[in-house]
Amino acid sequence: MRARVVVGNWKMNGRHESIDQLVKALVKGLKPGGQVEVVVCPSSIYIYQVCSLIEGSLVLLGAQNMSEHDDGAYTGELSAGMLKDHGCRYVVLGHSERRSLFGETDELVAEKVKVALAVGLTPILCVGETLNERESGSTLAVVSRQVRSVIDLVGVTGVSQSLVAYEPVWAIGTGETATPAQAQEVHLAIRRQVGEIDKTVADELRILYGGSVKADNAEELFGQPDIDGGLIGGASLRVDEFLSICAAAEMN
Ligand code: 13P
Repeated sequence: MRARVVVGNWKMNGRHESIDQLVKALVKGLKPGGQVEVVVCPSSIYIYQVCSLIEGSLVLLGAQNMSEHDDGAYTGELSAGMLKDHGCRYVVLGHSERRSLFGETDELVAEKVKVALAVGLTPILCVGETLNERESGSTLAVVSRQVRSVIDLVGVTGVSQSLVAYEPVWAIGTGETATPAQAQEVHLAIRRQVGEIDKTVADELRILYGGSVKADNAEELFGQPDIDGGLIGGASLRVDEFLSICAAAEMN
């Protein structure tokens, strides 16, 4: 049985006060004894604040991005070691916004996965197709290429230390969620791809779905056999909504 994970990706949102309220309410709202891992990924400037707010709680901390370089002369960048130093356990890598707006390639994302693993961070590797790619029937080819570039660099052992998040680009922030069947099809394909190399790693790999997950569609998505949790954008900024999504992950 794979333990479910629900990750809130706050993207470039929040201020000291709103974050203080959100995290305090989240910490209070999560009941002990749950099986679901709950992670929040603030904008990097607020990581330090969140780290102290979650101390002793069930909430875990992640970052939204990091440099592929170790410490050094890289103005404006954040290294994997710095994230680790600030209590991060996870780092979202290859989010479609980074791929499309900041030019991150499959190769760069794979490099970042390697660097994150080297310091003991758990990468949350994001993959997913655009609307054009889905409409032209290349969804599985695109996702498989994105996964393969990481396997090629870090091997299946690296994948075993990562989470994968399937986020169809057309479902992100649009209110249009992939149907549970559409998501399940891709999740299963990812698991089979890894399974061709190592069945045990594939069976244990946690694959999250992201893209307009809300309280009212989470349960059905999480009920699919190969969906092991969610990567939540907009809904993670509203504590009641996010707590309901976490509860849905507990339920089935
Ligand atoms: P939304 O939940 O706002 O669609 O965003 C999904 C996402 O990009 C999480 O990384």
